[in-house]
Amino acid sequence: MKSAANSLEHHWMPFSANKHFKSEPRLVTEASGLYFKNNRGEQVIDGVSGLFCTPCGHGRPEIAEAVHRQLSTLDYVPPFQFGHDLSFALARRLAELMPGDLDYVFFANSGSEAVDSAMKIALQYHRSKGQPQRTRFVSRERAYHGVNFGGLSLAGMVRNRETFGNTLPGVSHIRHTWREGSRFVRGQADSGAELADDLQRHVDLYGADTIAACFVEPIAGSTGILVPPKGYLQRLREICDRHGILLVFDEVICGFGRTGKTFGADSFGVVPDLLTMAKAITNGVVPMGAVGAREHVYRTVVDGGPPKGIEFFHGYTYSGHPVACAAGLATLDIFRDEKLVEKAAALSSHFLDQVFALRDIPIVTDIRGYGMLAGIDLAQADKPGVRGYEVLQDLFNGGMLARVTVDTLILAPAFVAERKHIDEMLDKTRRVLSRHAQRAGLKLAS
Ligand SMILES: Cc1ncc(COP(=O)(O)O)c(C=O)c1O
Repeated sequence: MKSAANSLEHHWMPFSANKHFKSEPRLVTEASGLYFKNNRGEQVIDGVSGLFCTPCGHGRPEIAEAVHRQLSTLDYVPPFQFGHDLSFALARRLAELMPGDLDYVFFANSGSEAVDSAMKIALQYHRSKGQPQRTRFVSRERAYHGVNFGGLSLAGMVRNRETFGNTLPGVSHIRHTWREGSRFVRGQADSGAELADDLQRHVDLYGADTIAACFVEPIAGSTGILVPPKGYLQRLREICDRHGILLVFDEVICGFGRTGKTFGADSFGVVPDLLTMAKAITNGVVPMGAVGAREHVYRTVVDGGPPKGIEFFHGYTYSGHPVACAAGLATLDIFRDEKLVEKAAALSSHFLDQVFALRDIPIVTDIRGYGMLAGIDLAQADKPGVRGYEVLQDLFNGGMLARVTVDTLILAPAFVAERKHIDEMLDKTRRVLSRHAQRAGLKLAS
């Protein structure tokens, strides 16, 4: 009989080149701190915090113990009409961390679910306010908001959308913020705030009172780290305020210190009406997503409901799961005790110095970075994505795990990294990219 452990056949892997992976697998067997171990027992440094989700580093015993304790105390409670302490405790901790009066938390189990929940909260809010005709959403080109049909409809990535038909009606996209003139700009570009006026054009086209919400990632993450120009998010906020449109920040990547402050909203000084989060909320160990809501949103929906009736017909079997909440609380304790947000902010300049030093490699066509996030564009080989995939494989074979979107390499180290870890990541990256440049017949700039 075929041993399950010896077969890679049956797992249909997500967002993966299944055929190729199964002929040349990249398998990981252990993780601790900044390192994975591959199935040959070799160390692989984690250049992207798993998938932006392990800023506290891997294998944290505090989280493992909290999860174990919770599993043996209270493993599950139905979240509809029943509750348990931990979800209230975690919601309160998150409310303390979020800026402004983002004081209410609706739990989900992933970033995609958080985004779809935020879309529904926006629709419910306007209905409760007596404006049920506000059903349109505005998002951006080159946005990633997960893969469920709501978030997919908001998304601005062609390969993720093209197979799946027309997606939701009533979603339109404003321009992304990458511009030719801002190549190799570190941090925020000085110009480009006027791109936010696209939202006003959509208001002029569709009518303000048809639009429920505008969704943006403060920094677009999965499409290559697109940092907003100075003043851009402020201008979106002003246009939303003028027209009663909810502003939603999707902080699934930006949240929990990635931008050098607790949320992107803090870094850029703009408070959205709704804020989605996931990934680092449990340091990646148990799936969880959440939507933060401002006082006026929560009050409008909850106070607008019947005295003993349900106000919002939405939720998941695992919303606020006790084990995920235990992991979340233990993660927030680590953030507090180890001052991880401050650590991220302090490490950022060394990280970005090293990343921007890659500019001399001739296949590097642009670099963007902010906080502990960086995107490095590579010149396309014969077809889009070919070089990116080869770089991903070469890095892994050389002992580093990174993220690639088409031909953009993305780095996002854990905040517990030391300078030597950043140096190791960037040495490995330089070696692989230089080899690719040489193969392409290009020489390093002298
Ligand atoms: C901004 C943003 N929103 C939503 C998601 C979807 O999260 P998940 O994969 O947990 O569903 C992601 C995932 O990377 C993301 O980056």
